[in-house]
Amino acid sequence: IPVQPFDLIIFGATGDLARRKILPGLYRRMVAGQMPQDARIIGAARSALTTRAFRDMIREALETFIGKDKLDEEIAAKFLSVLDYVTVDATGEDGWDELTKKLAKTKSQTRAFYLSVGPSLFGPIAARLHETGIATKDSRIVVEKPLGHDLESARALNKQLSDSFDEAQIYRIDHYLGKETVQNLMAVRFANALFEPLWNARHVDHVQITVSESIGVGGRGGYYDKSGAMRDMVQNHLMQLLCLTAMEPPAQFDANRVRDEKLKVIHSLEDVAREDIVRGQYRAAKDEPSYVQDAENPDSLTESYVALKVNISNWRWSGTPFYLRTGKRLRARMSEIAVIFKEPPHSIFAKLPAHQTNALIIRLQPDEGITLRMTIKEPGPGGMRLADVPLDMTFADALGPSAESMPDAYERLIMDVIRGDQTLFMRGDEVEAAWEWADKMLNDWTEQGRKPAAYDSGSSGPEDALGLMHRDGRRWREIE
Ligand code: BG6
Repeated sequence: IPVQPFDLIIFGATGDLARRKILPGLYRRMVAGQMPQDARIIGAARSALTTRAFRDMIREALETFIGKDKLDEEIAAKFLSVLDYVTVDATGEDGWDELTKKLAKTKSQTRAFYLSVGPSLFGPIAARLHETGIATKDSRIVVEKPLGHDLESARALNKQLSDSFDEAQIYRIDHYLGKETVQNLMAVRFANALFEPLWNARHVDHVQITVSESIGVGGRGGYYDKSGAMRDMVQNHLMQLLCLTAMEPPAQFDANRVRDEKLKVIHSLEDVAREDIVRGQYRAAKDEPSYVQDAENPDSLTESYVALKVNISNWRWSGTPFYLRTGKRLRARMSEIAVIFKEPPHSIFAKLPAHQTNALIIRLQPDEGITLRMTIKEPGPGGMRLADVPLDMTFADALGPSAESMPDAYERLIMDVIRGDQTLFMRGDEVEAAWEWADKMLNDWTEQGRKPAAYDSGSSGPEDALGLMHRDGRRWREIE
């Protein structure tokens, strides 16, 4: 179903994110028939380009990131024809009049401004859009992390945006919220009667949230070394996963109701004790550089891995820890949320070898899907023996060929911006609360000035991270 006619203005349209994700995503939405006839996409950036040169650039991006042989030539031509370009100096005078003129042609269309630029330009561009009247009362503005570096800078950024836009117009992207399985987590929890009665400290032993990456930080070392795993992944992506797993059922599936519940979770997080945190940095492997080589900073104290035990002080979760871990250059790319249930209250099979307890695994990538770990009788005539088996559902199997055309996170989120649905976007207060929680750890690390523990590239992280679980009589799930 096509969305309403819109003008999408992408600041930073010649940059990496626009060429790699945003524009190919919009092309795919056109293939899917979701782009209305009158849609216009206006690239705005500092480079002096003609519209024609911009179209050529995006044609190349489509060939690179979608694949030359996969492009539908007719649709690609149509897509390029809706692209326009204006050279704009975000902090100067050039280009703003031209942008105003271009937009005057389509006054009634929904306007969305995607700021695919560094955060230092968010405030100036927002102010300019407001002063020039280019942004109307119904316009939307889209920004993405880094949304601050700490609580103070996040507040300043929120203030700059809210000087020119209402909260209902601000779309803060966390691309994890656009992932299919993340949304499925809400469906599984709240559209089934089966899990919710068990979704609490009485029945859940603990929760493990893992976002493991096999790539290093090569190429982005400059940015990464100033952030580290806590700022780059935990404060945003893992925090969002934790919130959706832990939150109370919202009264309705509606942006503010959902975000209210997520905020309550963040407010219930206990401070994390020093001994409940493990930080790591990857070593060099055969042909691969170490973290400090990638970061070009031999004395770097930045973590490329972090594991932590988080306690949620509320009625539902008190006593059931959430263990989070994320890192670069680990054994495999794997992201999942694993809800590990408790033992049955009494085992009638106590004489048999121990087996694993039930677990619900929500797999974000690869092979998106959901698995319920069950114990059954091992088939055969050998008497009662127990075996752990998965009840598996991968989206690829469940949805067949239509799974292939599932929009990726960016495509889905951009369409939500046009529709005016903020459910999968972060509200300003959520971002600030998450920083407030993360800041305590970050400040402590700065004060301690300690180097993170070294771990082997291709491993599952530092040894100490295993200890974090063993100490509690638990084990991390394999990264594979
Ligand atoms: C980004 C981080 O937000 O998320 C990157 O800055 C990280 O460091 C990426 O690699 C992971 O996203 P995905 O979708 O590949 O899991």
